[in-house]
Amino acid sequence: MAETNLPVSAALAQSVRQHVSAMIDFRRDLHAHPELPWQEHRTTEKILEELKRIGITCRKAEPTGVIAEIVGDMPGKTVALRADMDALPVKELNDSLSYKSSHHGIMHACGHDSHTAMLLTAAKALQENKKSLRGKVRLIFQPAEEIAEGAKAMIAQGAIDGVDNVFGMHIWSSLSSGKISCNVGSSFASADLLKVTFTGRGGHGSMPEACVDAVVVASSFVMNLQAIVARETSALESAVVTIGRMEVGTRFNVIAENALLEGTVRCFDNVTRERIRAAIERYAQHTAALYGAKAEVEYSYGTQPVINEERSALLAQSVICASFDQAVLVTEKPTTGGEDFSFYMEDIPGCFALVGCRNPEKGSIWAHHHGCFNIDEDVMVSGAELYAQYAWCYLEQCRF
Ligand code: NI
Repeated sequence: MAETNLPVSAALAQSVRQHVSAMIDFRRDLHAHPELPWQEHRTTEKILEELKRIGITCRKAEPTGVIAEIVGDMPGKTVALRADMDALPVKELNDSLSYKSSHHGIMHACGHDSHTAMLLTAAKALQENKKSLRGKVRLIFQPAEEIAEGAKAMIAQGAIDGVDNVFGMHIWSSLSSGKISCNVGSSFASADLLKVTFTGRGGHGSMPEACVDAVVVASSFVMNLQAIVARETSALESAVVTIGRMEVGTRFNVIAENALLEGTVRCFDNVTRERIRAAIERYAQHTAALYGAKAEVEYSYGTQPVINEERSALLAQSVICASFDQAVLVTEKPTTGGEDFSFYMEDIPGCFALVGCRNPEKGSIWAHHHGCFNIDEDVMVSGAELYAQYAWCYLEQCRF
């Protein structure tokens, strides 16, 4: 149950509201100039320019990204706020938008443009109120979220050194405008990559007795694989195992020697994840042995599951209720998508919120990563305020 009577700051809320039109303009400018992971040079420059203009200490990360810090006039802990800033290789289909992407085949189709604009606005508001700010607020403008590399690179460059707690958010198209969610526990799944190679013995299609058919081995493996989810995973612990690609065989009358399979595994906790990884290895080895083939499994760990730490998530819930209204706070189901924010929470507590932006009246109904994706910009003021108030309340709470 969320606490109430938190020390949300009315002055902070007022500061955020003063910057709303600049925030929308900034977001639209980023939207018109989207940049792919590790190519966010213009975006990085724009952020640095704004931060310097308002007197916030900042440095450029390499090759892209920004790490900044607001130092309150009173001593206290350090809380980090993170926004991602990269776009996708998606062609924008919103032809009537005045700020439609001007970079062909690249689009802010996940809303990261709004995350950056909201965090910048929160930064302005916190800076304007730094006289009564107790501690420090680290600002992380992170590149390359879409390829799950940015968070690790920012951490390696000191983004969370000395940080006590971390908070992030994603604008969310399946959640209605005016609703915000920040669950205790699992929020996003882990997203791992799986490669399996089967090696048999090729030969003439008419003489199977002289061969070990990689087509049969691979097919058998694919057909049996779902038993890992159905028979080895508790019904209360969700998981997805998908083989998305299979490369096997060369010609209708040639028995295939090799098969390459690629897939993804999604889990909401690391115990289930490890169990599934081990089961895949066992299924591959035993299937190969059954037919006299060999198997090699390459399991690459991608993003961790995002598991919101309890006290942090309860704080975010309280901030949502105290800043807006009890009706704003909802419980959105965890998603099997991945989010590299999870890497920040490997060492420090924190949480990640979902800010609803679905509004049929404004046409913002399309899924993330779709060419028609757009957001209801009216929700950005709440997102910016949530960033600022979370940091404020975390630092205030640590005073007691
Ligand atoms: Ni995203």
